[in-house]
Amino acid sequence: MQTRASRKRDFDLESAKILIIDDEPANVQLLEHVLTQGGYANYRSVADSRHALPVFQEFGPDLILLDLLMPHFDGYAVMKQLSARVDDGDYLPILVLTADITRRAREKALSLGARDFLTKPIDVTEVLLRIRNLLETRMIYQQLRRQNRMLENRVEERTRELEEVQYEILERLAVAAEYRDDQTGEHTRRVGTMSEKIALALGLPAERAWSIGLAAVLHDIGKIGIPDMLLLKHSRLTPAEFEVMKTHTTIGARILSASRFPVLQVAEAIALTHHERWDGTGYAKLAGESIPLEGRIVAVADAFDAMVNDRPYRKALSTEDALAELARSSGSQFDPQIVAALLSLESNDLLQLDAATRTARPADSEASPVTAQSRKTSGNSAPADRE
Ligand SMILES: [Fe+2]
Repeated sequence: MQTRASRKRDFDLESAKILIIDDEPANVQLLEHVLTQGGYANYRSVADSRHALPVFQEFGPDLILLDLLMPHFDGYAVMKQLSARVDDGDYLPILVLTADITRRAREKALSLGARDFLTKPIDVTEVLLRIRNLLETRMIYQQLRRQNRMLENRVEERTRELEEVQYEILERLAVAAEYRDDQTGEHTRRVGTMSEKIALALGLPAERAWSIGLAAVLHDIGKIGIPDMLLLKHSRLTPAEFEVMKTHTTIGARILSASRFPVLQVAEAIALTHHERWDGTGYAKLAGESIPLEGRIVAVADAFDAMVNDRPYRKALSTEDALAELARSSGSQFDPQIVAALLSLESNDLLQLDAATRTARPADSEASPVTAQSRKTSGNSAPADRE
């Protein structure tokens, strides 16, 4: 338990700021004398209550000694003015000193924020006792507020850390899935970043866009369950092998299924549907808006990233060519409004980051329209054709 001495160390009551508002010079003088006697040196006095507010704002008192009967603004009017300037959570004690202490005056003053009353003529011991009590209460309030703020900051900090950890774990999980063909995890990261940008361009709330970006890094997590002989095959996949490769969507969804965390629920939907096509000719034959929006976004982000990065069998396309390719597949492979959102990013110079961080992209480009084209034109044995 705190002793009076230890409290005194914590809050130096004697340096507390005290504001006297009283129109009678004799009263003011007496109060100043009493305060000095009590060891309080940090006080100010206002005789004209019209100046009470500016002095209050400039001085920032810990306690106000207030007369009720004054010309111009009486004590009630002063309290009304001040209450609008005092925080709800702040405890600013007002000690009313007045000769008029009828029950009605008392109730009115209390309702306007007075904390205590003393009748004039004042008793020195009593005044000092009330002042000390009110200041101690104020200091305890302030200490509690400081502690609460500190705790809130700590909780915020911990929440932020947890979010960062969550992000990092998800990202590392995504890297694990891609480790065999993209040891840097750059592709998954870029698809995450691009998906978030597209979501923002679509006008989704920032929080949802962020969680789409976070969940998007896991779009190919199901590749963990695809045998190496298929994943690393450098020749075209047979139809049977392609069927196995396609299961990376359902495997991914199973890995992420039944989570109670929204971001993982989004990740599950993305893993399952990022190879769906707007025209209904994708893996599970979902079409149009029956494909979750998140899956449609990642389909575009994945395809774009595949095109603008080097592949084992071809150089990266320019951003311009990749966008033209996406525009051609808008309405067939891709949701037109998402392609439009990506194009709006380009016109706002928001695709630059991806161009700057361009690195070799592994061959997972089932989503890419180029894949279909290269199948038709080259018939080569590039890994992208496996799927
Ligand atoms: Fe995929």
